[in-house]
Amino acid sequence: AKDPVRVLVTGAAGQIGYALVPMIARGVMLGTDQPVILHMLDIPPAAEALNGVKMELVDAAFPLLKGVVATTDVVEACTGVNIAVMVGGFPRKEGMERKDVMTKNVSIYKSQASALEKHAAAGCKVLVVANPANTNALILKEFAPSIPEKNITCLTRLDHNRALGQISERLSVPVCDVKNVIIWGNHSSSQYPDVNHATVATPSGDKPVRELVKDDVWLNAEFITTVQQRGAAIIKARKLSSALSAASSACDHIRDWVLGTTEGTWVSMGVYSDGSYNVPAGLIYSFPVTCQNGEWKIVQGLPIDEFSRKKLDLTAEELSEEKALAYSCLN
Ligand code: NAI
Repeated sequence: AKDPVRVLVTGAAGQIGYALVPMIARGVMLGTDQPVILHMLDIPPAAEALNGVKMELVDAAFPLLKGVVATTDVVEACTGVNIAVMVGGFPRKEGMERKDVMTKNVSIYKSQASALEKHAAAGCKVLVVANPANTNALILKEFAPSIPEKNITCLTRLDHNRALGQISERLSVPVCDVKNVIIWGNHSSSQYPDVNHATVATPSGDKPVRELVKDDVWLNAEFITTVQQRGAAIIKARKLSSALSAASSACDHIRDWVLGTTEGTWVSMGVYSDGSYNVPAGLIYSFPVTCQNGEWKIVQGLPIDEFSRKKLDLTAEELSEEKALAYSCLN
């Protein structure tokens, strides 16, 4: 039998945490043959609720779950973890300035970076979910210099899956037949959902999404804004932000990263830019990636038309501004 993998979930007493921990314990993230030990971190005001989640995990009697650490101590939470899913953060509240929210999150991600650097297992893979996800990941990278930058990522898989979902609905085809959409840039409304390379499996082979949809007006406008604004639409409908879809996408992100993407298929991940596609190096930016042997690689050589170029640059600009704001909050 395999040795258990230790998976940290921060903000585990929150909405996404509540949806995510049972998925991990069921093998959705790492496979149904992989035992896990869950490490759950939250802050003292949420300690009682966190303990309630632990009680439910015990009650669910998950065969793969070999242990649960529920704590408000960041060192205890980070010790020995192989995977870290960072969901905890400070939410933007009504009337708060962007800078104030950024200051809170910068300080959280700075201290959690240090704890991970000192106490996580070697080779720990980090996924930042909490917003501003790209910039929180960047801060984490800065303050955990001994964790290789290739091990620090942020979640844009939810946006990727939303784009697949929209195409599937529009064409009335199963979502599993749609592939190779791309989310470029920031996990914010400036992201660029790109279908130029996306295809649909048909009885006569893979066909480009553009050829099947036959409506460039829809693809270049409504499709893009629907994906960009989907988070807000969910909040309006549910009076709560996306949780089950965020949790499921976080599992997809880690599963593909660890176990690999299918031949001929790429996914979107927020990763450290090396300057590919003329995206400024040193930003955490969402790119199309393939994964093999536990490592992601940016898909190279995709042609970028003028329309797309502008959108790639716009979201990069926003990320550069966020980065500058984050640095100004450090002092
Ligand atoms: P939530 O408010 O229900 O839960 C957040 C939890 O984090 C709370 O239990 C809170 O006590 C905890 N927390 C706060 N500070 C912490 C700290 N320093 N250490 C550990 N835990 C801490 O929020 P929800 O709905 O679970 O969302 C979590 C985050 O994920 C938010 O920032 C949200 O904006 C983001 N998000 C990101 C998505 C993405 O695709 N990247 C999609 C959906 C949400």
